[in-house]
Amino acid sequence: MSDRGSFDTNVVTLTRFVLEEGRRAKGTGELTTLINSLCTAVKAISTAVRKAGIAHLYGIAGSTNVTGDQVKKLDILSNDLVINMIKSSFTSCILVSEEDEDAIIIEPDTRGKYIVCFDPLDGSSNIDCLVSIGSIFAIYKKTSEGEPTEKDALQPGRDLVAAGYSLYGSATMMVLSTGQGVNCFMLDPAIGEFILVDRDVRIKKRGNIYSVNEGYSMYFDPAVTEYLQKKKFPQDGSAPYNARYVGSMVSDVHRTLVYGGIFLYPANTKSPKGKLRLLYESNPMAFIMEQAGGMATTGSQNILDIQPVSIHQRVPVVMGSPDDVQEFLAIYKKHANKK
Ligand code: F6P
Repeated sequence: MSDRGSFDTNVVTLTRFVLEEGRRAKGTGELTTLINSLCTAVKAISTAVRKAGIAHLYGIAGSTNVTGDQVKKLDILSNDLVINMIKSSFTSCILVSEEDEDAIIIEPDTRGKYIVCFDPLDGSSNIDCLVSIGSIFAIYKKTSEGEPTEKDALQPGRDLVAAGYSLYGSATMMVLSTGQGVNCFMLDPAIGEFILVDRDVRIKKRGNIYSVNEGYSMYFDPAVTEYLQKKKFPQDGSAPYNARYVGSMVSDVHRTLVYGGIFLYPANTKSPKGKLRLLYESNPMAFIMEQAGGMATTGSQNILDIQPVSIHQRVPVVMGSPDDVQEFLAIYKKHANKK
């Protein structure tokens, strides 16, 4: 052992990693600054999540947000943190948040070229019982000339510059892609920095876990029912799949990324468009999945190819290991052809 013991004096922090990527791409440094500001927000949210019980941050703030969910105190705090950190980075011109009905247009003198769509605290039904929750973000470039408007945020996921999420689980992790693979960074509370722990993560070709809210079974489309039946009662001699469902998209997708398998929030007769929001839930997660070698579809369309029509629109979601998603798609197509 050297004189430095086991202390790593050359750790790759998230900032260092993004700076190096930016330098290779001959960027201006604006994206690095933006991602840094998101990291600061995530660190603060992580602290708030860990202290919520003691700081009386559990419970409802007394309203419902634009998508009908009850707004928790931590949701509001997280939303304020993300908005304030991005605004003060001078990198962005439009913000779309799950918590705000309209897009936020940033004042002219503090604007930059990026558009950020985010869910500041996803999985809020899990807050009060201490189950893992997360934040999700998607970053686009403004492509039109002139005054920024909400329409500038209606870009397909294919045009994403970067996307990622943070997971407030047994540890806090940031998972990020700037379009060159997926990298995972763990928050080291001792130094307050995100440290690269998994470089160029690849999802398994096939997993053995399915993740869906089966409480909605009576409302499912026949294709979903047939697929799940096949996973539970395989006829080819293979073992049945395991079922796991946290109910926080970040947790369910992160587990799918790490262990492989499939995550579904399909359309059902009660919610014909599913539940998950395209701009700040489905697109960033689909981007991460594809960048890790996985797939993400609505059943009839690749999620990243959808042209958004409104900022809070919902889409059905099926994502995960490529062989699992292909198997689902084959069943989905068979049923679609019968219609
Ligand atoms: O959209 C918010 C969210 O909490 C997601 O994180 C999660 O995947 C989903 O809702 C859970 O919904 P349900 O309770 O209908 O299964």
